[in-house]
Amino acid sequence: MTNQTSTGWGSRIGLILAMAGNAVGLGNFLRFPAQAIENGGGAFIIPYLVCFLLMGLPLLFVEWGMGRFGGRYGQHSTPFIFDALGKAPYWKYFGVFGIFTNIAVAAFYCYLESWALSWAYHSVAGTFNGMTQANLQAFFTNYIELGTAQPVVFWLICLVLNTFILSRGISGGVEKVAKIGMPLLLLFGVILAVTGITLEAKPGGAINDGLVGLNYLWSPDFSSIWSFKVWVAAAGQIFFTLSLGMGSIHCYASYLNAKEDIALNAMTAGWMNEFVEVVLGSAIIIPISVGFLGIDAISEMVSGGSGLGIGFAVLPQLFSSWGWFGTLSGLMWFGLLFFAGVTSSMAMGTPLIGFMRDNFSWKDKQSAYLFGALIFVFGIPTVLSQDAFNEYDYWAGTVSLVVFAMVEIVLFAWVLGMDKAWDEITRGADIKVPLIFKYVIKYVSPVFLIIVFVGALPDIIKNATAPTSFYGWLGRAMLLILFIGIAVLVSVAKRKQLKSQ
Ligand code: ALA
Repeated sequence: MTNQTSTGWGSRIGLILAMAGNAVGLGNFLRFPAQAIENGGGAFIIPYLVCFLLMGLPLLFVEWGMGRFGGRYGQHSTPFIFDALGKAPYWKYFGVFGIFTNIAVAAFYCYLESWALSWAYHSVAGTFNGMTQANLQAFFTNYIELGTAQPVVFWLICLVLNTFILSRGISGGVEKVAKIGMPLLLLFGVILAVTGITLEAKPGGAINDGLVGLNYLWSPDFSSIWSFKVWVAAAGQIFFTLSLGMGSIHCYASYLNAKEDIALNAMTAGWMNEFVEVVLGSAIIIPISVGFLGIDAISEMVSGGSGLGIGFAVLPQLFSSWGWFGTLSGLMWFGLLFFAGVTSSMAMGTPLIGFMRDNFSWKDKQSAYLFGALIFVFGIPTVLSQDAFNEYDYWAGTVSLVVFAMVEIVLFAWVLGMDKAWDEITRGADIKVPLIFKYVIKYVSPVFLIIVFVGALPDIIKNATAPTSFYGWLGRAMLLILFIGIAVLVSVAKRKQLKSQ
């Protein structure tokens, strides 16, 4: 594989693993099962798969195509990729989302990642051995309410680790970690999934076998296609899990050569993510927790907002009835979550690094430190308060993704034009991309996105006007400051470009 810049990919397998690592994250193992349970199990699956085909795959092609296009113009972040594509002066400001979202999501994501690291440590240290469910719940609550200094220490370790990996560059850091982390994650995932689905009901232990949970998820409920709420949830999950609408895919793809394949690469990374999500992601939490506690208890927990709680406050206690294999399972489960988190959060740092290099000639190391400093500052409210955490998740991790995706698909398919866009997607392709995607990208996906957005508007308005606590407001204000700050930088960079012409 040839590279356009010295910071490009070292190998194709490295690129695919890094792209898959970008997509495979906490969303696959924690968010997906919680969403599925919250939306009625089998009711979720049909909208989910339809959203993957009509929105997920087409947007993957679009983002990979836009990214490689940008690389040809020496651009590795969305503000100036959009500028190169659209010409009109306002496009670059829509591109601001492609840096903003990454920093904001990384700010709360890194904290979640640190929980996984901490729980992996406690699994090995034996902290959970002999704990009752009530003890474990108390441990979890104490942790998230910062009852000790420990959460902050683990958070800082994760922050430093992410910054360090990013400071080593694309092939020296990101690619190397993906090559180690992804195979380990898959290995741990397969072992846990086999354990989950072969779980047997036994006196004093599991009340159901593992298949009860799987049947719950995989028995399709066709009535769900009439529920708008389920469609919005399914679309949101597809965005989050594939890391669409964020700008990180554009950045990774921008390091490809103009004639290198993107079609097969995009398909491989996308399907790998779906394998991990729907096969492994659904075969661990759901069969194990439903096996031990039953569907009603789990549904109640999730609808009470404790989706995350199953992964952290329930599973370790269930594992503890498995003897030595339980300790190993704890290490594998939290190790898997940790690798999934790190390979996603490091992707979130790369757009800022590309932007600073392209526009201000910053060294990658310097920009990695800047990213670390930003996720530290912007992460503080999310560590201190669940309200701020939720604000970040909602505005940056949900609404921004849809807005950005609507804009990018219009820019690529309509402003650049679908013929040129198709040419971009299929150039150098190692597979024949079915022609139907040309029409899906031009007509179906944009309409689909607009319907999802309009349908979600009442909720967005409700959230925007809903009262929020001090930390909620602080989080919201910080997000606004971040967005404006990046927009100002983009404007300065443009003026600099114009001056040097
Ligand atoms: N795609 C990443 C995840 O699923 C953000 O967690």
